[in-house]
Amino acid sequence: MSDALTTFCDEARSILRTDAGPAGRERVRALAERLVADADFVAAYVGPDAPLGKRTLYQDADLGFVVLGYNQDKPHRSPPHDHGWSWAIYAQVASYTDMTEYRRVDGGAGAGTAELEVAKKYRLGPGQAGLYDGAEIHAIDYPAGARYVRITGTDLDRAPRLRYDEAARRAMVIESASAS
Ligand SMILES: [Fe+2]
Repeated sequence: MSDALTTFCDEARSILRTDAGPAGRERVRALAERLVADADFVAAYVGPDAPLGKRTLYQDADLGFVVLGYNQDKPHRSPPHDHGWSWAIYAQVASYTDMTEYRRVDGGAGAGTAELEVAKKYRLGPGQAGLYDGAEIHAIDYPAGARYVRITGTDLDRAPRLRYDEAARRAMVIESASAS
């Protein structure tokens, strides 16, 4: 691993071991901004010539957090979704990701009828990272050429999560990483 990736993983592990709550995750988010600003790390893992799509850069055997690199050659807009009982940090390397955060206003939880309202919209540019805790609903929208790092609290392929269809006003369970 590059020095910066090793340092990031060591520091994230030590933070999350002592504080796995929102404050600890926020500290990891700040570390992620430092990671994606490191030119050697970017060149080694998420440069313009990195393999297309998603790849796992690191998975922590003890705590289960995962560091993923993405090099996207196609634009993508995800549906609103949450991260179940996990969390995710998106750290932008190149281009941008437009983030929309939502609040659920139907008073429900879980699958079924669901009504969303937009809470916040903003753009993550290179060097910026956002933290999305478990039940926080968000959608991502990026153009071709976007590169970013995502750190998840666990392997999201194994965490049941919700995806929202705004037009149909429904929440559905997803059990794979199809909605990132
Ligand atoms: Fe997400």
